[in-house]
Amino acid sequence: MALKTVFLCQNCGYQSVKWIGKCPECERWNSFVQEHVSGPDGPAVSRGIGDIAGTCPPRKLSDVKISRLLRAATGIGELDRVLGDGLVEGSVVLVGGEPGIGKSTLMLQMSAIMSRDKKILYVSGEESVNQLKLRSERINASFDNFYIVNETNTSLIMSYMKELQPWAVIVDSVQTLYSPGFEQSSGTVTQIKESSALLTASAKALGICVFFVGHITKEGVIAGPKLLEHIVDCVIYFEGQRESSFRVLRAIKNRFGATDEVGIFSMTDQGLKEVKEPSRIFSCRRHNTIPGSCVMAALEGARVILIEVQALVSGSSYGIPRQKAIGFDSNRMLLLAAGLVKNIGINLANYDMFLNVVGGVRVDEPASDLAVCVAICSSFKNKPVRNDTVVAGEVGLCSEVRSVSQVRLRVNEAKRMGFKRFVMPASDLENVIRYKDMELIGVDSVKQALGEVFV
Ligand code: TYD
Ligand code: MG
Repeated sequence: MALKTVFLCQNCGYQSVKWIGKCPECERWNSFVQEHVSGPDGPAVSRGIGDIAGTCPPRKLSDVKISRLLRAATGIGELDRVLGDGLVEGSVVLVGGEPGIGKSTLMLQMSAIMSRDKKILYVSGEESVNQLKLRSERINASFDNFYIVNETNTSLIMSYMKELQPWAVIVDSVQTLYSPGFEQSSGTVTQIKESSALLTASAKALGICVFFVGHITKEGVIAGPKLLEHIVDCVIYFEGQRESSFRVLRAIKNRFGATDEVGIFSMTDQGLKEVKEPSRIFSCRRHNTIPGSCVMAALEGARVILIEVQALVSGSSYGIPRQKAIGFDSNRMLLLAAGLVKNIGINLANYDMFLNVVGGVRVDEPASDLAVCVAICSSFKNKPVRNDTVVAGEVGLCSEVRSVSQVRLRVNEAKRMGFKRFVMPASDLENVIRYKDMELIGVDSVKQALGEVFV
């Protein structure tokens, strides 16, 4: 087939006949790289499940017999939770995350446990066999059925898979893969797509589980693992601030389970450790309360975690006041602050405002708004929030407190962790179970909440 030259966006795969500075699809700048593709239009042959299973005429859906999904525990509870109660036999999982976040460590630890009774093949294109051995000693793992190889050539990897017939293969990372049939260098859209499609097809045919490790960077122009999201069964992302030891594993897509699950880990000198009681870590109950801190009940996936949010509002010593939020959307913080100026009457005009969510976690749900408003007002007024109080509530533009989901779960978690008061939307009061040692305070506005939370 004749080769033609096109320009491909390395972020989203958008194709153009000429070089353009900004991708019209994903709006990324400088992401176009010249590549050769075969065929009259479109990147080289794309392989799907049809190619693996051979040609098969259409069948009636009612005639298709399904076998029960066989799941195996990975041995890491938090990972099993994210995968939907274990790993489905023969599934393909994409593990994404920024470099250095701990993807290889997680895969190595998982392999260590799984290789006790299953054969695991670890294909590393980044670290040498010696480095892997050193790391495995660091995490104190014994490996019985664990095979490692330094390889980036897809054809060779496929032959190893055929020869060894492992239960699972880990490819670390997709960016290093290359297929000899294509002349592009590894890391380009074509190589990532083609190589991973080849490996997926061969793994599906052999019934082998595949883990693709893929790097993403915040600004990254590197060919994104996002390109692979549609060909894999499960997409999980490893998140966290590099400065903090906590890591959150999040399911973005799961063909065999719910996507609202998160797993929480902490990175220690002996690898990743599961965090069994996240509320205890992200919201310690202090004896001496300090202004600017507030504990919220946040929904992370299907469970509630108590998380402390801290604000620092202080007179600006520079010309232009600075605002920054870590672990929370900065624009949302500014929106909430503008509401406070207008509706509560606090004058934040010449103040620097910083917000931090403790433990390096990120909260996105609207129910965290009230805690952010309370923390900002607490710092501004220099009044500490009572240390027996948890809050939850979405805040609107008029600084009204709006209803949130799963209030019952939130209150239960606060009670379990020993808190005594829960400030929540008044409209949600009817959905909560009342306990004798938990005072439930329904509020309609931030102003009303401020009347209840301070010492
Ligand atoms: P790594 O798994 O190599 O990240 P990724 O594959 O996502 O690029 O993890 C890298 C970081 O984790 C590295 O900075 C060192 C740290 N680390 C520990 O703190 N403790 C450990 O036991 C291990 C193995 C790594
Ligand atoms: Mg790695």
